[in-house]
Amino acid sequence: MTFAVAAKGSKTAKSFDDCDAVIIYEKKGEKAFMLRAAENTRSKPLAEFLKGLGVECAICRRMSEEEKASLRSVGIEAVTGFDGEAEEAAGRFAAGPVKKEANKKSCLNPMPRVLVSCRGANGEENALAVGYCGNCSYDPPMLMVGIVPSRYSYQMIKESGCFVVNIADEEYKDTFDYLGSRSKRDEDKLTAMNVRLADGKVVNAPILSDCPVNIECSVVDSIVTGSHEMFVGKVEYVHADASIVGCDGNIDFSSVSFIK
Ligand SMILES: Cc1cc2nc3c(=O)[nH]c(=O)nc-3n(C[C@H](O)[C@H](O)[C@H](O)COP(=O)(O)O)c2cc1C
Repeated sequence: MTFAVAAKGSKTAKSFDDCDAVIIYEKKGEKAFMLRAAENTRSKPLAEFLKGLGVECAICRRMSEEEKASLRSVGIEAVTGFDGEAEEAAGRFAAGPVKKEANKKSCLNPMPRVLVSCRGANGEENALAVGYCGNCSYDPPMLMVGIVPSRYSYQMIKESGCFVVNIADEEYKDTFDYLGSRSKRDEDKLTAMNVRLADGKVVNAPILSDCPVNIECSVVDSIVTGSHEMFVGKVEYVHADASIVGCDGNIDFSSVSFIK
């Protein structure tokens, strides 16, 4: 990748407005190789000027957010906070990781992949795949699951005020995919996949017996965050396969092959 350092004399300039030359380097591996220097005689906006020099990254000490956005709009990433000798700044930049703005949607990854099971007011049972899920308190133990209101399960959880988070392992991948791509609105998914169920010990929802860990929760609060409603669940009971529970009661998660 090719990048430009704003230089004043031999030093890194405060900004591209303040520089007397733009030194262009090529990053190969973790090293910078100088290609050429272009005098700062620009009559055009910075984005256009740097685009014309064919650079993908612009290095200087400071830059306004507006200027960074205008560079980004032409595919150039601005990297600030460099000072000292321009040559050394280029070397430091090349040695470090190159960052680029990425999409915001579902950007926290990997997501857990769990199956949330529930029972509606009329007694019908269901489960769906959930990735928006996490611990949210250890005292008292709580976790939260994010459910999109259009899911059939959403109304069931609203009605019953409880759910079970089932941690599925790789062997359950086909069932996980099925429960995450079909709706109870159209078919009885649990019967179609021969999902084995057992009653929860504390809450009025089924546990999925073939998942190694099942966490019974009662809803204590919920917040609509946008696309999802986050149900905060107080952990009422944790079932785990005996083979993965240590003498101290902790689950040995290293022996669970999580679905990726
Ligand atoms: C990997 C994966 C993660 C998912 N995460 C969520 C989630 O966090 N929240 C949600 O509401 N739906 C999520 N879904 C989609 C539901 O599982 C899916 O729409 C399901 O068919 C809903 O079933 P239902 O209508 O019977 O409740 C996910 C699906 C997959 C495959």
